Parts: sequence; structure tokens; C-alpha cells
Amino acid sequence: MSVQFPPSAAPRSAYPVDVLPARLRRLLLHLASSGTPVSAYVYDGEVAAERARELRAALPGWAAVHYAVKANSFPGVVAALAPHVDGFEVASRAELDLALSALPATDRPPRPEAATARGSARAPVIAGPAVTAPVVAAGPAKSPPFLAALIRARVEAINAESLLELHRISAIAAAEGVRARVTLRVNPASIPVTGALRMGGVPSQFGVAEPDVPDVLRAAARLPGLDLVGFHVHAASGNLDADAHAAYLRWCVEWSTRTARECGVDLRLVDVGGGIGVAFEGEKPFDVARFGELAAQVEPPPGVRVLLEPGRYLVADCGWYAAEAIDVKTSYGSSYVLIRGGINHFQLPTSWDIVHNMAVLPVEDWPEDCPRPALTDTEVTVTGELCTPEDTLLRDVRVDRVRAGDLVVFPYAGSYGWEFAMHRFLGHPVAERHLL
Ligand SMILES: Cc1ncc(COP(=O)(O)O)c(C=O)c1O
Repeated sequence: MSVQFPPSAAPRSAYPVDVLPARLRRLLLHLASSGTPVSAYVYDGEVAAERARELRAALPGWAAVHYAVKANSFPGVVAALAPHVDGFEVASRAELDLALSALPATDRPPRPEAATARGSARAPVIAGPAVTAPVVAAGPAKSPPFLAALIRARVEAINAESLLELHRISAIAAAEGVRARVTLRVNPASIPVTGALRMGGVPSQFGVAEPDVPDVLRAAARLPGLDLVGFHVHAASGNLDADAHAAYLRWCVEWSTRTARECGVDLRLVDVGGGIGVAFEGEKPFDVARFGELAAQVEPPPGVRVLLEPGRYLVADCGWYAAEAIDVKTSYGSSYVLIRGGINHFQLPTSWDIVHNMAVLPVEDWPEDCPRPALTDTEVTVTGELCTPEDTLLRDVRVDRVRAGDLVVFPYAGSYGWEFAMHRFLGHPVAERHLL
């Protein structure tokens, strides 16, 4: 039986250099002229903003788009997105602080000191905060200090992952004199949708297994510090199929409506998580307009907000990872380009087995007294500066020419790039980050 490769793994040539916008090339050549070998991410905030505008414009009025900060937490990118999204999804204290500082002042919560001063173990539990920050928080194993920060920030919803987490949230909120808005994260038994979605229904550390939901809801109803506003499902990843994603959204809304009715939950929020994919070579891009049309046929109950938490889709194509070819060489007939960087800066292609293509940007500066090795019209493998064969970013890509001193540039590096890398392994300098 032959191995089935995804379309993005088809044999390929490097991208032509003109896939790189002219102003990106100018900035990279400027960096290359500085004398320090280039290793940098460059982001264009306007590209991210445009993706957010497109997605929001396609969706019906009951849908909200909260950017999942984990995909790219560079402050310039978060700030560029802020006016074009309804809010943020955060998974750590650092992401919370970043999201709060990117929000307009009117959306920010009271200062933490004020909230702490109000709270005491005997404070009366009040209906809810006057100002809610348009931030939702997700992620397994949230620590009590992180939960406390979320509650003090008056976030729109904490996506609770377990019964113990609900107890912790309730206790902290009651001590603060508030009821925390909470959605229960559910790991569905199955979702009757085919396509590129990775379904729930497998054991995992995420959320509450669907059969356990009624018992957990019964217990939650007795907790004084909770305002249970709905459900959270994040069961999709890298989905390029608009029909499947709309069917997934429909399933989340219908399941939440039914479960809320059966279990006596006053449903106000259905959070369908992230998961819209981006197309690499040979793949068909996600059809946002079609997704919006199909989503508009879903009818959430009146007053229920449906929230999407896209990460990758909003920022993938706003970023490039560029690194200098420190050396080029051949070994037993195979050719290698060794860069100033590697998986210490850009780990996603290796750990998710993505074939992530690149372009070569020629750099003419080269010391006269040093021979300049070059590889021409051949297939090369791009490797990094770590002492492990795993440090391989791209295999067997055909290039017209690459010389030591040229830059290799990976487009679509805006999501899960810098954030996802193992910066401290070997201790080489971390990749710089620039905004175009
Ligand atoms: C809870 C949650 N929401 C949203 C996202 C963003 O997903 P994506 O970048 O696939 O849109 C993630 C990613 O891990 C997540 O865990």
C-alpha cells in the first residue's frame, strides 16, 4: 500500500522571489546590510486586519469574532487586529494582559487593586460586573492565580474545563463579591460532520466528556459564584472546508440549545472555538463567503451570541520568517542550506509535519576575500543551527540558485511561528520581530 501524502507534500520548487512583497524585500535587505546575520519575523498588521474584516463581514450579526492571541502575540499584530475583532481569546496571564492593553479604554475592567479591595470572604454575591471585558479564556489546567486574574478582569467568559475548575472559579468570584461568567467546555461524543475537522469523541484532557455534562451542570447550579452563560466547544483544527465548518457551527448551536433546555441553563453564549485553516500549496483556501452564507442559515435562540475564536486564519499570511543561509554544502550527493535559526525559531513545520515552502531572496553583499559557495538548479534541504537532525525546516525543494549569504524566507509564518518555537535550546539569539 502506498503512503497517502497530503497535497501540500507534493514535490515542489521554491516560490519565486516576487511572492515576497516589495516593501518586505526592502526591509529584509536593509536588515541584511546591518552586518548581523538575519534571523527575523516580519509582520504586516494590515494583512491581519484585512482577514478579520473579511471574516466579520461574512458572518451574521449574532456571531462575534474573538482573536485567539496564542496564534501570534506580537503586540503590533494584536494592536492591528483590535479595531477589527469583537474581542480576544486568551490562555495565560500574559495573553490576558496583552489583550486588556489592546482594548479600548472603555472595555477595560476596573484596576485590580480596586477589585481586590472590594472582595472579601463575606462580601455579598452580586449579579455581575458593570463592565465586562470582551475577552474569553480557554485552556486546560488553569491555575488559581490565573483564574483570579480573569475574574478580576471581569472577562466575558471563562471556558471551564472541569468540575474542580468550576469550584475554584466560584470560590474566587464569591470572595471578590461577584458571579463569574462561565461556559462549560464540552468534549462531544461525536459530531455528525465529515470533512477536515478533527472531531471530539476521543479521550482527552480538554473539557468535560459529553455524557458527564448533565451531572456537572447540576453541581454547577449550586455554586454561588457562577453565572453559567453557555458552552464552549473547540473540536476543529486547520479546517479548509467551509461547508464542514458551517455544519460544525450548526451542531454546536443546536446541541447547546437542546442541552441548555434539558438542563435548565439560561443560554446566552455558544463558543465554537477556532479551527479555520489556511491553504498551503496545492490546497483549496477556506471559502469565507460560503461559510458566512451557510452560517446565516443557522438560527440561534434570540439573545444568544455565537462566538468564534480564530487564530491561524487571521494571522498566518501576515507573517514571514527570514533567515540568512550561513552555509550551503553537499553531502553524498544531497544539498543543504544551513540557516541562522531553525526550529529554535520556527518549529511548527516539523512538529505538525507541514510542508512549508520558502523563497530565496538574493543578497549581493559578500566579502571579496572569501569564496562564496552556491547551489544551482538543484533540490535542497533547509536545516538550522541546532545540533540535531530534527532541525530540518524543508526537504527536497528545487531552487534556481541559493548562495551562502542569501536569505531564505518562509511566507505564511504569522501563526504559531515565534510563539511555538523552542527559543532557549542551545541559546542562540532569539529571532527578531519587526512590523512592516
Ligand atoms: C480554545 C482554543 N480556541 C481557539 C484556538 C485557535 O485555533 P486556530 O488557530 O486553529 O483557529 C485554539 C488553538 O489551540 C484553542 O485551543
